[in-house]
Amino acid sequence: MDNKLEKLVKAKEKIRLGGGEKRIEKQHERGKHTARERIDMLLDEGSFVEIDAFVKHRCNNFGMESVETPGEGVVTGYGTVDGRLVFVYAQDFTVLGGSLGEMHAEKICKVQEMAIKMGAPIVGFNDSGGARIQEGVDALSGYGKIFYRNTKASGVIPQITAIMGPSAGGAVYSPAITDFIFMVEKTSMMFITGPQVIKTVTGEEVSQEELGGAMTHNRTSGVAHFVDNSEEECVERIKKLLSFLPSNNLEDPPYVETEDDINRIEDRLNEIVPENPNKPYDMKEIITIIADDNDFFEVQPYFAQNIITGYIRINGKTVGVIGNQPKVLAGCLDINASDKAGRFIRTCDAYNIPLLNLVDVPGFLPGTEQEYGGIIRHGAKMLYAYSEATVPKVTVIIRKAYGGAYIAMCNKELGADQVFAWPNAEIAVMGPDGAANIIFKHDIKESEDPMETRAEKIEEYRHTVANPYIAASRGYVDDVIVPSTTRQRLASAFDMLQSKRETNPAKKHGNIPL
Ligand code: HXC
Repeated sequence: MDNKLEKLVKAKEKIRLGGGEKRIEKQHERGKHTARERIDMLLDEGSFVEIDAFVKHRCNNFGMESVETPGEGVVTGYGTVDGRLVFVYAQDFTVLGGSLGEMHAEKICKVQEMAIKMGAPIVGFNDSGGARIQEGVDALSGYGKIFYRNTKASGVIPQITAIMGPSAGGAVYSPAITDFIFMVEKTSMMFITGPQVIKTVTGEEVSQEELGGAMTHNRTSGVAHFVDNSEEECVERIKKLLSFLPSNNLEDPPYVETEDDINRIEDRLNEIVPENPNKPYDMKEIITIIADDNDFFEVQPYFAQNIITGYIRINGKTVGVIGNQPKVLAGCLDINASDKAGRFIRTCDAYNIPLLNLVDVPGFLPGTEQEYGGIIRHGAKMLYAYSEATVPKVTVIIRKAYGGAYIAMCNKELGADQVFAWPNAEIAVMGPDGAANIIFKHDIKESEDPMETRAEKIEEYRHTVANPYIAASRGYVDDVIVPSTTRQRLASAFDMLQSKRETNPAKKHGNIPL
C-alpha cells in the first residue's frame, strides 16, 4: 500500500511540475505566471479541486509516442470565488507550448459541460501555441468541440477568457464566442494570422504587438473588453466582474449590502450639464455619482468611447449602464458604438441584469465612411437588442435625444419601462440648427438679414419643440425629474420593476442583423 501511495504522490508531483523547472523559470522571466499560479490567484485559498490530471495524449506521429505531456498541457477543475462555484481551465505553456491536441481539448470540454450542468461560470486562461501541429486533424476537431460548447453555454453561464500569452489562428474563436475577454499589456497576443504570414501574403510589415497586442484589441478592434498591466491586476478584475454577474441565466446577480444612502441628493447633478447645448461634459461623472459607493465598473473603456458601458449597483443590485459620452464625437452613435452597446445589452439581458440608459445623443454619425461600413445594419443591432431585452429598462434623457438615435437609446416604444427626463432635455426629430434650415428655409432666404433670422428661428424651434414637456404630455416620458434626485428615482423605479415578467413570442431564435 505504501508503495502505491508513494507512486501516486510522485505521479502528482510530476504532473504539478508541468514542463519542468527550466520552462517554469522561463515563463517567470517573461513576467508570466504558470497555469497553476493563475488558478491559485483566482480561486479562494485552498478551494481548487483538480480533475483529469492523469489524462495523456494518444498521438503517435512525429515521435510523439515517447513525448510526455504532464497534465496534457492544461490544468482543469473547479473551486470558488468569493464562496461561489466557478469552473476553470488554464493552458500550461511549459508543456509543448500549451498546444492543443485531442485530449487537451477533451479536458476543456469536460469542464465546459460540468459548468453548464451545474450552472456556474467558467474562466479560461489561454496561453498556447495553438493547434498541436503533430496531432493534425485531431487538434482541429478538438477546437471544433470547444467552440460548439462555448456556443451552447452562451447565455446560460458567464464565460470569461483571460488571454495570458499567445492565442493564434482559429484558436482565437473560443475567446471570441465567450462573454468577456481580458488581456495583459505586453504578454497577451491575439491574431488570426501572424506577422510573418501577413508579410508573405500582403507584403505588409507589422509587429506582433501592433497587430494583436492588448491595446490593439482594447482600443482598435474591440475584440477585448479589459486590459491590465499585470496578471495579478487582471485576475482581480475578473473577480470583480464575477461579483456583478449571476452564476447562470436562471439566477439574479448577487446582492451586495451597501451603506450608501439611497435618498442621497446630489446637487452637483443640477449643474453638471452646461447651459450651452454644444458644450460637452463627462457622462461618467453622472454614472459615478448615481452608483452605490460611487463605484463604476466600466466594460470596454477604450473602444468606441462615444458610448459608455459598464456595471454599477443601485441599492445593492447590479445595473448595466449604457450612456452616450458627449465628450467623444459629441456622443453620436456610430458603427463601433452600436456594436459595443448591442452586445452589452444582450449580455445584460441574458443574465437578468436591468438596464439603465443615459441619453445625450445628437444622432447617428453622418458620412460615407459610416454608410459604406453599414451603419444601417450596425445601428439596427441596438434597436433589436433593446426591443428584445425583457429585463427592466429605465431611460433617463439627460440632454439631447434626437431622431433615430432617440429611439435607438431605448425610448418608450422599444420597451423602456420608465422614462425620465431632466428639465433641459431636448427631444426632437433633429437638432435645432438642421431643423431650422429645413422648415424655415423660405423665411431665412427671404429675410433682409438671413443670419439674424436663422438665429431667431433656431431659438424659436428650440423653445417650441426641443424640451421634454411635449413628450411628457403624451406619456412618452413618465416624469420630468430634478437631476439631483436621480439616484433616488432610479432606486425606486428598479425596485418597482423587480417583479417584472415579460416573455417574447416563442421562436427558435431571433435574426439579429449582424
Ligand atoms: C506543437 C508547439 C506548438 C504547436 C509551440 N510548441 N507551439 N508544439 N504545436 N502549435 C512547442 C515548441 O515546439 C516548444 O517545444 C514549446 O512549445 C515552446 O515553444 P517556443 O517556440 O520555444 O516558444 P516561443 O519562442 O515563446 O514561441 C511561442 C510561439 C511559437 C510564438 C507560440 O511556438 C509558435 O509560433 N508556435 C506555432 C504557432 C502556430 O502557428 N500555431 C498554429 C496556429 S493555427 P519545446 O519542446 O522546445 O519546449 C491554429 C489552428 C486552430 O491553432 C484552428 C482552430 C479551428
